[in-house]
Amino acid sequence: MPELRVLHVSDVHLSEKRAYNLKNWEICLRHIDSVKPDFVVVGGDMVLDDPDDEEDQYFARQQMERINAPWHAVPGNHDVGDSLPNPYKDQPVTDERLARYKALYGNDRFVFHIAGWCFLGLNAQLLFSGLTAEEEQYRWLDEALAASAGRHIALFLHKPLCIDTPSEEIRSGMNVDPSSRKRLLEILSSANVRLIASGHTHRFRALSAGGVPMIWAPTTAQANMRMSEPRAGLPRQNAGMVFYRFLEDSVEWELHQPEAIVPTDITNFAAKYGAMRHSPEFRAGLAEVA
Ligand SMILES: [Fe+2]
Ligand SMILES: [Fe+2]
Repeated sequence: MPELRVLHVSDVHLSEKRAYNLKNWEICLRHIDSVKPDFVVVGGDMVLDDPDDEEDQYFARQQMERINAPWHAVPGNHDVGDSLPNPYKDQPVTDERLARYKALYGNDRFVFHIAGWCFLGLNAQLLFSGLTAEEEQYRWLDEALAASAGRHIALFLHKPLCIDTPSEEIRSGMNVDPSSRKRLLEILSSANVRLIASGHTHRFRALSAGGVPMIWAPTTAQANMRMSEPRAGLPRQNAGMVFYRFLEDSVEWELHQPEAIVPTDITNFAAKYGAMRHSPEFRAGLAEVA
């Protein structure tokens, strides 16, 4: 097969009235134009902060139309609400938030085949949610894997499966709950998984899950330098994108950091306002920030 070029863009955190991340979004769009990937995966957290801010939801969705490549998205906690048991700002994923997302994006997951590869996108926010949609997603995954027998699987989801090792018991807002991870890995154990790609932590990192690469995409948007959850010692939050090259029997990756991309430093804002939704409004025309 000819090589397949994919760009993973995650945690873009967009808002028109708090346009702090629009400059980086423009850089990201220009980078997509220069890389010319076969497709883009948007890894969640399209919305700045508040999943119930319909204006931000609509604006972020509109911005996706500016991606000059085929694209596929999975939702993040700022798009459909956060995972249990301690959802950010007490906004858990709910049927209502999910329905709003689906009305905008069509679906909260994807599956398609190219050559010998199966590209799967899951809604990580459903895991450990207890919603009917969670079981539906597991059933859908079973069927998707059955229909993909013999192919290599590349899995994309917003939250990393784990912080360090798949057997860990760390419960935090940063990773999939250990019980859901266990169930997911059991389902995936019969498949030929070759990549697990996530976002959410705003950090670039590469780990191994029993030999399967788990790649964390950084943010294109903002960094909180005091973010120490779930443990100290992780790489600092940084901005960029992950470029993948899918070959017949392997996948290669590299961090792309266009020269002008610098994460918006929200360290002080986070301390002062508690959340970006409470930060001062800052409107910049898209042409101005370009
Ligand atoms: Fe994020
Ligand atoms: Fe997130």
